[in-house]
Amino acid sequence: MAFIVKKKIGEKEYYYLNENKRTNGKVKTKTLAYLGKTKKEAEKRAKEFLKKMKKEKFIEEKREFKEKIKDLPTEISVEDMAIFCKRKGFVYQSADIYGGFAGFWDFGHLGVELKNNIKKEWWKFHVWQRKDIEGIDGSIITHPLVWKASGHLDSFADIFVTCKKCKKPEKIDKKDLGKVKCPECGGEFDFGGAKEFKLMFKTGVGEKDEAYLRPETAQLIFTNFKFVYENARMKFPFGIAQIGKAFRNEIAPRDFLFRCREFEQMEIEYFIIPDSNCIYKIPNIEISVFSAEAQEKNEAPRKMKILDALKKGIIKKDWHAYWLATEFSWFVNLGANPNNFRIRQHKKDELAHYSSDCWDLEYKFPFGWKELEGIADRSDYDLSQHQKFSKKDLTIYDENSKKKILPHVICEPSLGVERAFLVFMFDSYHYNKERENIVLKLHPKIAPIKAAIFPIVKRKDFEKLGSEIFNDLKQEWNVIYDESGSIGRRYARNDEIGTPYCITIDEESLKNNDVTVRDRDTKKQIRVKISGLKDVLKKLINQEIEFEKAGRLVK
Ligand code: GAP
Repeated sequence: MAFIVKKKIGEKEYYYLNENKRTNGKVKTKTLAYLGKTKKEAEKRAKEFLKKMKKEKFIEEKREFKEKIKDLPTEISVEDMAIFCKRKGFVYQSADIYGGFAGFWDFGHLGVELKNNIKKEWWKFHVWQRKDIEGIDGSIITHPLVWKASGHLDSFADIFVTCKKCKKPEKIDKKDLGKVKCPECGGEFDFGGAKEFKLMFKTGVGEKDEAYLRPETAQLIFTNFKFVYENARMKFPFGIAQIGKAFRNEIAPRDFLFRCREFEQMEIEYFIIPDSNCIYKIPNIEISVFSAEAQEKNEAPRKMKILDALKKGIIKKDWHAYWLATEFSWFVNLGANPNNFRIRQHKKDELAHYSSDCWDLEYKFPFGWKELEGIADRSDYDLSQHQKFSKKDLTIYDENSKKKILPHVICEPSLGVERAFLVFMFDSYHYNKERENIVLKLHPKIAPIKAAIFPIVKRKDFEKLGSEIFNDLKQEWNVIYDESGSIGRRYARNDEIGTPYCITIDEESLKNNDVTVRDRDTKKQIRVKISGLKDVLKKLINQEIEFEKAGRLVK
């Protein structure tokens, strides 16, 4: 807030416009303008000065806003994203040359790298960096009794209906029978012809045995629970993680990778001694919360701290709040836009009979808010079913109560790799007007190619040094060497596929043993000594150092 002050120097009075500003916790007074020698004159000049300042501030804010929106992700439809992914080599329709195969997708030379990096980061965060979670890798074709025990064999089914107008098949919930219309054309469904459709793919084993491709990875965790508990010497609370393929014969696969028939899951079953409290600090993170009550009352979701949702009793259990916050923060730490996420509580009629609370982490896809990751409380349902069907004792001895008990799964974070892939693609896709090309701002940790190495022009000595650098860096990361086309074209090609750093060899490189490193998002360049390049790149990829401080800034 600005204010007028009077200073007396000798016999004369002088007026000034001052302002108090708090910087780093300390209040400092700054003189903004000299206002003259009389009170009247000072008041007039102060008014004019503040008006001018307001105008300048407005211009500055407008400029800042323009800069900001230049950096906002560009919204594109899921169809356009599929075209982009095909054009750049991320994802192809499976058997494209035969006309494609609905619900099946192949990952191209960049897609496989991005997908592997997502899985690697998920595994690092959930398994390597924690003491309480170990991993397994179970078989895809599993003993049929596993699916009988889990309930999939009898009830893993959707209701199949056909649209009377466009004739397209659609899956609907039992509760929506007779109520909903075709999402494709708005036509009436033929509810009279509604059928139950089993979602598990059948296969044969040996000559006659019937078996199934797993529809989720989770059940393999339950069947191996006791082995992991004993052999990995786990202490409660603890989790078992798994990444792997799952198969569902979806009635209507759609929205590109969103609903496929073959996909991958990253799942954790987190086991606790029943009724034990969360032992971890709940990450202090804010998100849009869509409670069951708000949905029933047709109210909008409310932004709040996950911890506050727990304190208010919206989220019922501390463990649930912990896992919701943890899963959300995994996405945000890898560069996803937090504003595109919300958590939605399942309504009573969506809850399984054994579950007291269930939440989905949802993402704002171009086709609406949809489930990204389910985070369910499964109690002791699965272990007790497998105990019953296998007739094996799955209880553990609890030192505290001195009793044998069946642990509870307090949370089952279950995330589809393909849906995570879409999130990172949508949130990183920017069309840059100034550069007139797409800049795919993927976090360097998940970017398919970490660096591109170029000689600035085609010249034997530049090419020799470039190849040496390429051979050295490729021992550590997926990097490329590119000498074709103008330097601008090579930068643009790499912007579009998300390569965070471009390394150029020029005349100075031969003299000074250094290279330029260009930052994809800002186009800024630094010079870095070749001897320290690997170390600098490592720090940049892990975001341990600011770009401008990683070398000598090229003006
Ligand atoms: N074990 C629990 C389970 O499988 P789910 O909600 O059926 O729960 C978990 O699936 C996650 O798997 C979903 O949140 C989604 O990310 C992914 N998923 C499920 N069906 C999918 C499909 N047809 N295509 C792609 N991803 C799918």
